[in-house]
Amino acid sequence: MITVNKLHPLFFGEIVGADLAAEPTEELRQTVQQAMDDHGVCVVRQGQITDEQHIRFARLFGPLELPPGYGSRPRGRMAPELFFAGNLDADGNILPLTPANRNVAKGAERFHADSSFNPLPSKWSMLRGVECPPSDVGGDTLFCDLRSAYDDLPQGTRDRIDSMMGIHDFWKGRAYAGLEVTDEMRARMPMPPVLHPLVRVHENGRKAVFVGGHCVGVEGMGEAEGHALVEQIYDHVTQDKYVHRHQWTPGDIVIWDNRFALHAATPLNSDKHRRDMRRATINESGDEIDAYEYRRRQQATPA
Ligand code: OGA
Ligand code: MN
Repeated sequence: MITVNKLHPLFFGEIVGADLAAEPTEELRQTVQQAMDDHGVCVVRQGQITDEQHIRFARLFGPLELPPGYGSRPRGRMAPELFFAGNLDADGNILPLTPANRNVAKGAERFHADSSFNPLPSKWSMLRGVECPPSDVGGDTLFCDLRSAYDDLPQGTRDRIDSMMGIHDFWKGRAYAGLEVTDEMRARMPMPPVLHPLVRVHENGRKAVFVGGHCVGVEGMGEAEGHALVEQIYDHVTQDKYVHRHQWTPGDIVIWDNRFALHAATPLNSDKHRRDMRRATINESGDEIDAYEYRRRQQATPA
């Protein structure tokens, strides 16, 4: 029997009693789908599962978005279909807390939607805690509910932003987050900006305001004015009343709908504890490819 509880007044469900180590059932798929429609973010309380079981579960809900360089990644500690979020190097040793390593982590410490800098932003992300540091040294993950935040915007603001397109720019977003961005970094990984609607509509009719760390402006507005507007909305949606803090228990899988919730990492203040977190990412449709390949195919197709 699978049950769903609500852990925050506005959103964030807890799914108890699912067995992801077993062959997935239609009951499991429907229950998780309904819980996600209702809550936008859910934690599946679960014992440890394998990468393959994690991937099999993710694929029930859409094609995987694969990490950059997927085709050339050997099977190391982790299945190459998964993204890594943690403090370990390829051999599984803890990365020391150097300024350079802290710099890289900074981007995820602003609230963001995964891959919103890509032409095809991620639908859901499923992050699994394999090894989780104790909460008092950091590493909790924060979530905010973009649907309630939209509902609470003044009517005038809602009317004004309804048909606006947000500009999502990976490098500019990183720079605004305080990361030092060099020309060399931009050249190695070119990420031209993309546009997404500032207001997104769920199948059930609920609307959400789609901002976050990668959203740096508004199409057709001056740079400063557009940036000020999306920052003002960012400040609104990240108010405490819309935020839930998740403290990780090993085995937890947190699923978030990137269209209706933002998330943020919190700093890890110790390199004495291992953090091994693995993420399966799901697209709305299309082939299982990485985002670079998606861009390449788009550019190769005549308009
Ligand atoms: C992610 C992410 C935050 C965290 O996996 O996309 O932003 O706390 N993770 O690891
Ligand atoms: Mn993320």
